[in-house]
Amino acid sequence: NGTAKIEKNGILSIGGCDSIDLAKTHGTPLFVYDEELIRTQCKRFHNALSSTGLKYHISYASKAFLCKEMARLAKEENLGLDVVSIGEIYNALSADFPAENMHFHGNNKTDQEIMYAIEKNIGLFVIDSFSEIDRIEAIAENNNKKIKALLRITPGVEAHTHEFITTGNTDSKFGLNIDNGQAKIAIEKILQTKNISLQGVHFHIGSQIFGTEGTRHAIDKVFSWLNTLKSELGFSAKVLNIGGGFGIRYTEEDVSYPIEDAINEIAESLKSSSEKFALDIPEIWIEPGRSIVGEAGYTLYKVGTIKEIPNVRNYVSIDGGMSDHIRTALYDAKYEVAIANKMDSSANYLATIVGKCCESGDIIAKDVYIQKTEINDIAVVSCTGAYHYSMASNYNQMTRPAVIFVRDGKDKVVIKKESLEDLLKNQI
Ligand code: LLP
Repeated sequence: NGTAKIEKNGILSIGGCDSIDLAKTHGTPLFVYDEELIRTQCKRFHNALSSTGLKYHISYASKAFLCKEMARLAKEENLGLDVVSIGEIYNALSADFPAENMHFHGNNKTDQEIMYAIEKNIGLFVIDSFSEIDRIEAIAENNNKKIKALLRITPGVEAHTHEFITTGNTDSKFGLNIDNGQAKIAIEKILQTKNISLQGVHFHIGSQIFGTEGTRHAIDKVFSWLNTLKSELGFSAKVLNIGGGFGIRYTEEDVSYPIEDAINEIAESLKSSSEKFALDIPEIWIEPGRSIVGEAGYTLYKVGTIKEIPNVRNYVSIDGGMSDHIRTALYDAKYEVAIANKMDSSANYLATIVGKCCESGDIIAKDVYIQKTEINDIAVVSCTGAYHYSMASNYNQMTRPAVIFVRDGKDKVVIKKESLEDLLKNQI
């Protein structure tokens, strides 16, 4: 996908930039984003949704990867922003991202966060609990502000990547359940407030989902529930936010499920549920994160120690690790690795790519075929654009890598590499 390609000299280029030059210029580990591909993904969502004829709004789930440049890009591509903390709000505001195009999620927004968001005129709150209704109402009243909100509901449908299951879904720290009646009570309660204007509801059934069966099932359940709300409470949702979760291809084993197909299927299901229950289709909001930035990101590492244990395994160590790549250790996620300066050799060397952190679980990719490699080669891990930098840490006092955007043969640093002084800056 995107602009990455193998040049005649066997070197991987991304966005028209030689990956080995990038590694030399900016050092390793290095996060490289194919800016064109991020923009393409934004446009694909817009085109797919606008061709359904539905009213829609797209927000980028900034938890996947946020920095000032990413916030500017999201604004340029006409995306709103899904934020979950004062930190994400602050970061986006510092890039002049308009507060009114942000919506604020989270199961435990603190009073300080609510106050900050209200002061900054955040576009909308996604209310997650009963106590939050009271707290937002009180803070809004004190500040003489009217705020807009959605209620986060759990529709009793959960997706686990390739399949979905129907659960009571009562056991979740997020949202309020529609089957046990709590969501309806919350709606009634919000409708009684003076300062909160309820625009609709939100659900998110999971992440890295392929196919739309679970979402379609959830839509039907939610429409049936909204139908009851209309007759019992006279409430009609203006907005239905169906979350993010569109799956991406980490490896060849992941199926390809084009965004366009997913959106068309969702639109069909909205239309049929709307007919079935004689309800208008609310404005449809989505909030993709991974599918916007995941495939656009690459991590470049320098190969260091290679340990070949006869009849056991070949370990190839790189100069980063779980401090910039936690998903393998955390979720047993699968990645493809290649040697960026030897892309024209065949990938016939079986190795486990490991980091330099002090933990056996510090694995990037287990038992994968890569090109035969030696010290100082540059290894590239693809599909590291989502939940990599944003989940990076200073474990072992590792410094976070730089992040660069590449496009049309030009590279720009969007986050500098952390320095050793940065490690000390908050220490007394
Ligand atoms: N909306 C809500 C309410 C969410 O909770 C999430 C993700 C998204 C949108 C965006 O989902 P996406 O389109 O990116 O799948 N750290 C994990 C992923 C956690 C996702 C949390 N919520 C990972 O690395 O896979």
